[in-house]
Amino acid sequence: MIKKGIILSGGMGTRMSPLTKAVNKQLLPIYDKPLIFYPLSILMLSNIKDILIIVNKGQLNQYRKILPNGKNLGIKINYIEQPYPKGLPDAFILGEKFIGRQNVSLILGDNFFYGQYLSQKLLSCTKLKSGAKVLLHKVSKPELYGVAKVNKRNKITKISEKPKKYISDLAITGLYYFDNNVVKYAKELRPSKRGELEITDLLNKYKIKNKLYADYIGRGGAWLDTGSIEDFYKTSSFVSAIENRQGFKIACLEEIAYFKNWIGKKQIKNQIKFYGKCEYSKYLDKIINK
Ligand code: G1P
Repeated sequence: MIKKGIILSGGMGTRMSPLTKAVNKQLLPIYDKPLIFYPLSILMLSNIKDILIIVNKGQLNQYRKILPNGKNLGIKINYIEQPYPKGLPDAFILGEKFIGRQNVSLILGDNFFYGQYLSQKLLSCTKLKSGAKVLLHKVSKPELYGVAKVNKRNKITKISEKPKKYISDLAITGLYYFDNNVVKYAKELRPSKRGELEITDLLNKYKIKNKLYADYIGRGGAWLDTGSIEDFYKTSSFVSAIENRQGFKIACLEEIAYFKNWIGKKQIKNQIKFYGKCEYSKYLDKIINK
C-alpha cells in the first residue's frame, strides 16, 4: 500500500498573472475552496495520510494559514520550499528524506479529478508494489499534455511530452504512482531543452524496464484543467453546478476525514470556529448534525 503522497504545488502561475503575483495559484479559489483542497482530497480518498506539499519559496506562511500540520484533518502535512521550479521530477529529489524507503504517489497541485467509483480506482492504484503507474484520460487536445500510446494489451508503447504530431489522444494526468526507485531515477535525469527535468523522461525509465503501467479514470470521470484563467472558471462552474444541484461538496476535507473516522465531531467544531460564519461552516455543521 502506498502511504505517502506528494503534492507539487510550486510554479509561478505565470499564465494567470496578475492573479498569481501575490498569491500562489493553488490558493486561488475553485468555486468555494482553494484549489489545493482538490488534489489533497484525492490523496485523502486514497487513504494517504502522510503528505508532503512542495511550495514556492516564500509561500509557506500562506499555506500554513489554511493547512497547518494536518492534525485538524487526522493526517500529517509536511512542507518543503522549492527554491525555483525545476520540473516535476524535482519533487522526488526534494522529497527524498520524506519518501525514505517507501513507494510514493505524486499529484500536481493544479489537477482536478471527479467521478463515480473514483475512490475505488484510487485505492486500487495505491496497491502498486513495483514499477510506476499513470492514470490516462482521453482529451480533445492531446498536444497540451504528456500523452501515452497504448497497445491492445493495455501496454504503454510510447510516451511523449506535448507532442506536436499526433500520437494518441490519451493524456497522462497529473496523478502518478511510483516505487522507491523513483528517487534514484529522478537524480539521473538531465534537464530537457526547456531547462527542466521532465516527468515523461522519468516515466520512460520505467517504460524501458517494462515497468510502466496504465490505468484509466474512465469515460464517466472528469479530469479538468486549471492551467489558465479560462480553465479556472470552467472548473469552478463544474464544481458549482454539481454542488448546488446535489447539495454536497466536492473536496470537503473535513467531511472526508470525518467519514473515514480520522477525526470526530470535536475537530469539526474546531474547524467551524476556524473558518467562521460561512457556507462552508454551515455545511460542516450539517455533517455532524445529521
Ligand atoms: C504537466 C506534465 C504533463 C501532464 C500534465 C498534467 O504538464 O508535464 O505530462 O500531462 O502536467 O496536468 P504542465 O501542466 O506542467 O504543462
